[in-house]
Amino acid sequence: MKGLILCGGAGTRLRPITHTSAKQLVPVANKPILFYGIEDMVAAGITDLGIIVGDTANEIMDAVGDGSRWGATVTYIPQAAPEGLAHCVLIARDFLGDDDFVMYLGDNLLEQGLSDFVDRFEHARAAGGDHAPSAQILLAPVDDPRQFGVAEVDDVGHVVRLVEKPEDPPSDLALVGVYLFDRHIHMAVRAIEPSGRGELEITDAIQWLLDHGHTVLHDVLSGWWLDTGKKDPLLESNRLLLNRLEPANHGSVDEGSTIEGNVVIEKDAQVIGSRIRGPAIVGERTRVIDSYVGPFTSIGNDCEIRASEIDHSVVLEHTNIVGVPGLADSLVGRYVELTRSGQLPRALRLMLGDHSSIDLE
Ligand code: G1P
Repeated sequence: MKGLILCGGAGTRLRPITHTSAKQLVPVANKPILFYGIEDMVAAGITDLGIIVGDTANEIMDAVGDGSRWGATVTYIPQAAPEGLAHCVLIARDFLGDDDFVMYLGDNLLEQGLSDFVDRFEHARAAGGDHAPSAQILLAPVDDPRQFGVAEVDDVGHVVRLVEKPEDPPSDLALVGVYLFDRHIHMAVRAIEPSGRGELEITDAIQWLLDHGHTVLHDVLSGWWLDTGKKDPLLESNRLLLNRLEPANHGSVDEGSTIEGNVVIEKDAQVIGSRIRGPAIVGERTRVIDSYVGPFTSIGNDCEIRASEIDHSVVLEHTNIVGVPGLADSLVGRYVELTRSGQLPRALRLMLGDHSSIDLE
């Protein structure tokens, strides 16, 4: 079985979050979102990976490399324009050959790994003879199904219909960005036409399989799922993933500091005269001085947090926060200087990047 990871694909997946242009590389609990997907693939025994890359190809390639760090091999497949998720399958034809594969949207995060999902498909295919499934989809109930592909499942548990972003959803079961396919999907992606948003939709390709008598299995996800391509789930992902960390101290904590609960202090980080309440992570070479870092906070590498209080927040690399009390529920990008200079007249002196959003006390 091969793996196809999409870091491109649909237009909506390319919008940047904060100062990173590849949103798949935004760190959650100090690890890029994309790496969780790669690790899940490898844990499910899938090490032959294709990664579809678009505008942000260089960043993705720099971060992932040749995959040897995970014991995987990576083949990069460039996509000239975001022409849809099914278009990714179309251009990955040579890489995929006739193998079964898992397709994974690089900005999705799943609590449960992929192993059970992959095992079930492999067993059903081995046992299935003529009725072997050609695809298996993962579904999750969502509050607003109109933002997703939606599945209609009949009384006996068969998938009967799939619709992409319906005005009037037939159910609340959204298609999660993880799909299993056999070679029949190649026929489907060649047969479908672009949707209203001008993209080849994988949802339509799976509907084509149903229309042509193929069996499509489904699982309903039990754990959490976050589509970080959608609005504002980043702090929530951070919260959920910090809960999974094993406490560790690879840096230094002085006698004047207290560490409570699940806290990871990464290599060469220093905690001086501060209190850290987990779950939290302090990145490599970061200094936390005379400060309070509260629950559900990730501080990236090479930051300085001095005389400040921060919780429920994500701070990316090379950022300095000095003299700021009560920073909460915030996402702070790279190379940000958030300081209190004491300069008069008292004023807020800001230089904010694109798409910034500030909520003053
Ligand atoms: C894509 C799919 C949609 C699926 C979603 C999951 O949507 O088209 O069917 O539910 O991913 O993340 P997009 O957000 O790329 O438009």
